Amino acid sequence: MNLLAIESSCDECSAAVLKDGELKSVVISSQLIHSEYGGVVPELASRAHMELIVPVVEESLKKASFSKEEIDSVAVTYGPGLAGSLIVGISFAKAFAASRGIPVVGVNHMEGHLYSAFLEGDKPEFPFIALVVSGGHSMLIHVKEPYSHELLGQTRDDAAGEAFDKVAKLLGLGYPGGPVIDKLAAEGNPKAFNFPRAFMNGESFEFSFSGIKTSVLYLLKELKYDPENRDDKLVRDICASFQAAVIDVLVAKTIAAAGKFRVKSIAVAGGVAANKGLRTALQAAAQTMGAKAVFPRPLYCTDNAAMIGIAAHFKYLKFGMASDLTLKPIPNLPLSFLN
Ligand SMILES: Nc1ncnc2c1ncn2[C@@H]1O[C@H](COP(=O)(O)OP(=O)(O)OP(=O)(O)O)[C@@H](O)[C@H]1O
Ligand SMILES: [Mg+2]
Repeated sequence: MNLLAIESSCDECSAAVLKDGELKSVVISSQLIHSEYGGVVPELASRAHMELIVPVVEESLKKASFSKEEIDSVAVTYGPGLAGSLIVGISFAKAFAASRGIPVVGVNHMEGHLYSAFLEGDKPEFPFIALVVSGGHSMLIHVKEPYSHELLGQTRDDAAGEAFDKVAKLLGLGYPGGPVIDKLAAEGNPKAFNFPRAFMNGESFEFSFSGIKTSVLYLLKELKYDPENRDDKLVRDICASFQAAVIDVLVAKTIAAAGKFRVKSIAVAGGVAANKGLRTALQAAAQTMGAKAVFPRPLYCTDNAAMIGIAAHFKYLKFGMASDLTLKPIPNLPLSFLN
């Protein structure tokens, strides 16, 4: 199966080509225009997707040395995401499939993140626990077999990536916040400030990250912090202490879930999975319980079409190719709960 995969749910316009589940090419065009607004502007994102989708698909085909005629199925993200952004990818995918008489399948964006650990290298073994931590979601999932998911818990308020972005904004560090906090945290003292770790007691697999962000806000008010005139050591210490609080919660809950369901593999995905501190801490914690934690390379942690392609491959193996030319965007699409 020669598959063209398309991802346009937020501010990355991406296309990938896979042959029998093996990645042949991926092109990701990130829309830089949003950084000056401190977050993604939906109207600008959909307009940019309209300009980018054709050149991005053409480049992915060229990089894979495939012609349009050699593609025999199309997979596209149909949610969750921004309606105006999703509709560009879906419309393109349906038109491409209809004009060539080939099937088009919809893929859940979060299931794309979930299966991104299968793109290359060391892969998780079923059953496994997946920690999906991105800009809009924080989820712990028990993946019993391909496309059999049990959602164990998710965030009650902010997502982990959202907390990184909001704290970076408070500190005046720009958008997105994750990469810059990750870098500064490596040079700071993680014990300088004690930020709250929510829901650490008991068996809950739910998360809450808004309290950490509010604590950072109160600290900055108390210190009369001025982003224009900042003390670099203080910023590094706040970043390190904030990141340590987020990592403590993510690691403790993921390890507890792996222990409860007696799995030997843990897969971490989504933009926050690129975090160096999280990678080191979770790998070490998994090792002490005889499990292994697998992370995609950073390029495949944030939004990309390669992950949509690999999820489509697993979906195809489980359900066959159910083409749907009536596919529509579903901005709040939940994870499939299949047993
Ligand atoms: N090194 C890093 N450390 C921590 N967070 C990071 C890092 N790199 C990226 N992020 C965060 O990852 C998020 C982006 O990830 P991703 O592209 O998966 O999210 P999204 O697609 O916006 O959300 P969703 O997938 O939930 O719809 C941002 O919040 C960003 O700050
Ligand atoms: Mg995403």
